[in-house]
Amino acid sequence: MLRRVASALSLPLRRYFNPRFQSVQARLDSTLDELAVARKEIVRAENELIARNDRLTDMLSHDIEISTETTKVMGTYLADILAATEAIGLGVPEHVRRLAEGNVEDLDEAIAAVLSYAETPMGFAAQRGLFFNPPVWLGYEPSDVRVLGVNERIAEVPYVFGMLGQLPAGSRVLDVGAAESLVSLSLASLGHRVTAVDPRPYPLPHPQLQVVVGAIQDLEVDELFDAVVCLSTVEHIGLPAYGGTPADADADRVAMQRMRELTRPGGLLVLTVPYGRAAVDEFQRVYDDAGLAQLVGGWEVFDRRLLRRLDAITWTTADRVFDDTEMTAMIAARRID
Ligand SMILES: C[S@@+](CC[C@H](N)C(=O)[O-])C[C@H]1O[C@@H](n2cnc3c(N)ncnc32)[C@H](O)[C@@H]1O
Repeated sequence: MLRRVASALSLPLRRYFNPRFQSVQARLDSTLDELAVARKEIVRAENELIARNDRLTDMLSHDIEISTETTKVMGTYLADILAATEAIGLGVPEHVRRLAEGNVEDLDEAIAAVLSYAETPMGFAAQRGLFFNPPVWLGYEPSDVRVLGVNERIAEVPYVFGMLGQLPAGSRVLDVGAAESLVSLSLASLGHRVTAVDPRPYPLPHPQLQVVVGAIQDLEVDELFDAVVCLSTVEHIGLPAYGGTPADADADRVAMQRMRELTRPGGLLVLTVPYGRAAVDEFQRVYDDAGLAQLVGGWEVFDRRLLRRLDAITWTTADRVFDDTEMTAMIAARRID
């Protein structure tokens, strides 16, 4: 009863307010709808952001992996380079300084290789024209130095000095193919007036030494020589290794002829050449007896010795050809007329 009365009493009020509430309600509903759409949009955008972030993170971590790997590889290379640099003594001056005054036991592989290379005809000194073909060849090894071989100079050089031993000081001596050898300087130091002829310049000056850069075939002089030395040279003259052409096939004999013309009658010749079965290649000729006889035509031979290599370090005299070994002929002669 009471409720009905209240309802009746509130009817005007509800008639007044209801339409308004309905429009408020409608606006609220549409706002709620818009909010729901907006929320959905936010969620979608948020999800997309998260996805993008994940992709970015993936890409970054991939890049980081790659750059880490690259750094590792570069590190390994650098370590290798440093190790190699250290091994050959570059960038380690302290190590090299220590070796410069050190003991043979301190010799390591890298420094030994440098020292061995320096001994060769391609080494540093050779590149400055200062290679003097040593009779004894040395090889450097870690903590050691060994004799690798002995070449024919071991006998040839003393033979030259022996055969010229009776020459009075001040004699005029021609050294043909003088580079790579100390013979010219020694003869000048012994008081002779020496002419050193070679297409390569002789690098050691001396007041008694005249250097002629050129071929013996073209040498002109004012005064004839008392002696001519041709040590391990004529066998190379005119061959391709020394700039020759096929037209120079006889260049060895032409050269010998010129040596004879430049020596006074009675003057001396000291000649050394490879000996054995006659042969020729790009680098040198090997002379047999007939070839030797041609070389010394016009000279009277008064001493002739054959050398034979027994092994890497041993040479001995011989009285015949040994086909299987390296041999050298040494001849001393006098100009006949
Ligand atoms: C194997 S080396 C001998 C060098 C030296 N006599 C010695 O005892 O070691 C030969 C030399 O002959 C020289 N030579 C080559 N052709 C020559 C020529 N036509 N006249 C003079 N020397 C020549 C080369 O330049 C080289 O120095």
